[in-house]
Amino acid sequence: MNGNLTFTMIKPTAFKNNSAGAILKMINEAGFVIKAMKLTRLTPELAGEFYAVHKARPFYGELVEFMSSGPIIAALLEKENAVEDYRTLIGATNPENAADGTIRKLYATNLQQNAVHGSDSDDNANIEADFFFSKMERF
Ligand code: RTP
Ligand code: MG
Repeated sequence: MNGNLTFTMIKPTAFKNNSAGAILKMINEAGFVIKAMKLTRLTPELAGEFYAVHKARPFYGELVEFMSSGPIIAALLEKENAVEDYRTLIGATNPENAADGTIRKLYATNLQQNAVHGSDSDDNANIEADFFFSKMERF
């Protein structure tokens, strides 16, 4: 059975563009409940740690630089089948390939600045939530 938690970040460009309110509205209207949330900024070291799985990829350096370039909103979301349903709501990594009506289609700037992060598995949802939130910050 699939888990009921996923983790998201509203990435720096989407936050800077004032798209956070509209994105959070879409998240709520799709049936996700916010279990934890914070506005924060990653240092390059923390962004590198968060995306360590991509260390060998050619875009890793730029990704770390971008993700630490400004404030982000981190949130833990609850819904049945959360990881898969949230990936459907956000759309493809490259917004040019994202389906109409998805968060990335509506709010991404380009492939790198693609508005939001979404966990790719239940295990990673838990690892990513633990990266940002203590027990006291979860509701
Ligand atoms: P995310 O982890 O942020 O939810 O994105 P994703 O699963 O859809 O895509 P992933 O393969 O995990 O890539 C992580 C992020 O790296 C940037 N990226 N740049 N220049 C490139 O070719 C490239 N490919 C990926 C994007 O910001 C992507 O979301
Ligand atoms: Mg990913």
